[in-house]
Amino acid sequence: MVALLEAERLPTVELADHLANVVVAVRDGRVAGCGGLETYKGCDAGLVRSMVVEEALRGTGVGARILAWVEERARSVGLRRVFLFTVNARDFYARHGYRAVTLDDFPTCARGSAQYRAVRRFGREWGVAAMAKEL
Ligand SMILES: CC(C)(COP(=O)(O)OP(=O)(O)OC[C@H]1O[C@@H](n2cnc3c(N)ncnc32)[C@H](O)[C@@H]1OP(=O)(O)O)[C@@H](O)C(=O)NCCC(=O)NCCS
Repeated sequence: MVALLEAERLPTVELADHLANVVVAVRDGRVAGCGGLETYKGCDAGLVRSMVVEEALRGTGVGARILAWVEERARSVGLRRVFLFTVNARDFYARHGYRAVTLDDFPTCARGSAQYRAVRRFGREWGVAAMAKEL
């Protein structure tokens, strides 16, 4: 997962804290895609994170399946909303029902993550968009 994420310059920070809510796609015995959910104590909003599919497999529906799994996991743990950050995949998420939001739309309980803090500080410079979906 780390290799796939780093190849796309996507963050791996705090990923190890959320492995219980991560799914991987396996092809020929190796990880070819992944995605996961960050949850926060006492918070009904979570963060879809670490979504990546190896280049050769993109456009074949693996990303959609991973995202569906992550959203189902979010529902199953009682979340009502999921947020995410993206630079290059806005259209993909828009087609899956996500809409653009601002960092101020994140509930306070979902603002403690390293990702949120980094985007708050550098998001504009990095061209990061925040998006959300009601579940
Ligand atoms: C974003 C990402 C995870 C999507 O994964 P994916 O496996 O390519 O996603 P899908 O195949 O489900 O969907 C991608 C497109 O292929 C199309 N598609 C899906 N199944 C298809 C199939 N069987 N044949 C052809 N096209 C197909 C989808 O309609 C979709 O088109 P759209 O972008 O116009 O909606 C992947 O592109 C990626 O790893 N990008 C780089 C990293 C990144 O930006 N990650 C997001 C971080 S927040």
